Amino acid sequence: MQRKFSLAVVGMLGFALTLTACGDDEDGGGSDNGDGGDTGTSVEGKVGVILPDTESSVRWESADRPELEKAFEAAGVEYTIQNAEGDAEKMGTIADGMIADGVTVLAIVNLDSESGAAIQEEAAAQGVKTIDYDRLTLGGSADYYVSFDNTVVGELQGQGLADCLGDKPANIVYLNGSPTDNNATLFSAGAHSVLDPITSYTVVGEQAVPDWDNEQAVTIFEQLFTQADGKVDGVLAANDGLGGSVISVLEENGLAGQVPVTGQDATVEGLQNVLAGTQCMTVYKSAKLEAGALADAAIALVNGEEAETTGTTEDSEGGRDVPSILLEPVSITKDNVKDVIDDGGQTAADVCTGEYAALCAEAGIS
Ligand code: BGC
Repeated sequence: MQRKFSLAVVGMLGFALTLTACGDDEDGGGSDNGDGGDTGTSVEGKVGVILPDTESSVRWESADRPELEKAFEAAGVEYTIQNAEGDAEKMGTIADGMIADGVTVLAIVNLDSESGAAIQEEAAAQGVKTIDYDRLTLGGSADYYVSFDNTVVGELQGQGLADCLGDKPANIVYLNGSPTDNNATLFSAGAHSVLDPITSYTVVGEQAVPDWDNEQAVTIFEQLFTQADGKVDGVLAANDGLGGSVISVLEENGLAGQVPVTGQDATVEGLQNVLAGTQCMTVYKSAKLEAGALADAAIALVNGEEAETTGTTEDSEGGRDVPSILLEPVSITKDNVKDVIDDGGQTAADVCTGEYAALCAEAGIS
């Protein structure tokens, strides 16, 4: 009850401020969003999305951007999407620009919780609603959190690695994602919850990779590999990019394909590695579903309505439960790479190039 009331107040405030801000703008006249009663086919309001970077995963520009564009266009809402290129200060500047430009809802994939929370505080002060897209901003004030169940992502990675290793004794190295990304914490926790109880496994190294940087990942894994005297039987790599870094080191040591490596994002490279047997599995998180969920939540906010949620997520730092839409990730091995293609997550044309054509044919992908 209390939350509803404060949302409504913020909503009205947002409407008033939007009108002021858009006073000299093109077409501020038609909106009656403050009532929450508009049932037109196109949505009054404007959604801004800030993606984090182009390096930590190819997903942001190759999957999220096009799917977000499609989702907003289908919903008939005005939108703008920009990329912060891994620079938290730049994300702040983009956010200020979007707010000045009259966005009514701002969605961010934060680069770290502190800078994300600052952006959300500023947005709220200007009456702009915010959504955490994919990564929860700890201590933030987002109205909604749209993501996958990231603990389950980690569990699928742990289970995938265990399936590839079997129950014989094995030395495992963890290459975790960025320490500033709350998802990375959840992925690692999920994987540990599956692998730690398997008593034949020994963790011989574990390190987080700053900013998910694939080049640093090579150096970090080389060090962990050397420290373990090369006795590494399996690697829990948090996404396909980090997995690719690990595979390159294993290749140099003549071990690619013999040491199972996990991943995430079902990228073209990740799927090719899975088909080739150098990567044990990846995790598919449909960008179409996630972008669609973001568009739905944003439109509800624009209309002064509440979005349909799947539950809440605890923000331990802010001490609040954030209304959430969490989707189900899917584990992908050689046996079901085809499912990603059938779902439109990647195209056969992109995955089945050159040497992968024969492997695709074997996997029933045409
Ligand atoms: C996302 C992953 C992505 C990683 C690096 C995480 O927050 O959930 O899908 O691979 O960031 O960009």
